[in-house]
Amino acid sequence: MPPDAKHALITGSSRGIGRGIALKLAEQRVKIAIHYYKNERAANDTLAEVRKRDSDGFIVQADVSRPEEIKQMFRKVQAQFKKLDVFVSNARPEVPTFFQPPLQITLDQWDTAFDSQPKAFLVGVREAIPLMGNGGRIVALTYAEGSRTGGLQPWVGMGSAKAALESLVRYFAVALARRGITVNAISPGWTENSVLNTLPPQAQDLIRNWHVRGWTPMGRLGTPEDVGNVVALMCSEQAAWITGQVIYADGGASLMNPEVPPEIQLG
Ligand SMILES: NC(=O)c1ccc[n+]([C@@H]2O[C@H](COP(=O)([O-])OP(=O)(O)OC[C@H]3O[C@@H](n4cnc5c(N)ncnc54)[C@H](OP(=O)(O)O)[C@@H]3O)[C@@H](O)[C@H]2O)c1
Repeated sequence: MPPDAKHALITGSSRGIGRGIALKLAEQRVKIAIHYYKNERAANDTLAEVRKRDSDGFIVQADVSRPEEIKQMFRKVQAQFKKLDVFVSNARPEVPTFFQPPLQITLDQWDTAFDSQPKAFLVGVREAIPLMGNGGRIVALTYAEGSRTGGLQPWVGMGSAKAALESLVRYFAVALARRGITVNAISPGWTENSVLNTLPPQAQDLIRNWHVRGWTPMGRLGTPEDVGNVVALMCSEQAAWITGQVIYADGGASLMNPEVPPEIQLG
């Protein structure tokens, strides 16, 4: 963490991976603006956990698919913190709002994906910059498998939106390089205590077993703490020279070859 990095805004930190990121940064005494959409109670739980770690913060509500609400969220951050050192764009709408295959997805569902990802990032970064001095950190959460593959058909809207988000990360990285602000994307593998836990139990079991069987060479799913550690690493002073990258944080899952059963690959 840059020595003067004291304030972070993390969208979608009421629960899941966003909460994991908030708690890891709180352990480093960073004050956290905990953003939520509908789940105020969960946001307050995150705030209580942040305080247990000898940090502090506040909760802020916004629908990230609405630019005006994003701008309002940043006005609240400015009022509370005066400045911002870290902006993590992590929020993602509930799966049923966009999960349809290419031949069925409605334009509204498509817009939900794009409004909440690249457009929200475009608006959010432009709001964050005036609050950042030199040496800030911007991190976007992506799912890079969904950006580059086509197998999980109903993921088409979110996969395409995340691909655009990753592209925007590279453009902003160049635009902000002279200010010492790094812009990176983190791509977690499947993660416990996140959207996974909202899937039908049978689907959860299939996914867990698949990763334990070897699709993730480390033999387990990730945790919000794993991803929080990676974001904390990217926010460190030592990460100042890394920008514009998509960093896989997935226990090696992205290294596996989909044409060959894991048992053969792992030998
Ligand atoms: N989970 C995984 O395995 C996985 C893998 C790769 C990448 N990712 C990425 O990691 C990020 C977090 O995923 P997750 O699974 O941890 O999320 P999650 O548990 O489903 O939580 C979603 C978060 O986004 C907020 N949110 C939902 N709709 C919103 C909206 N319209 N406007 C603003 N905020 C909204 C929720 O707020 P409320 O609590 O108020 O509803 C919540 O804080 C996402 O960008 C996702 O694509 C996740």
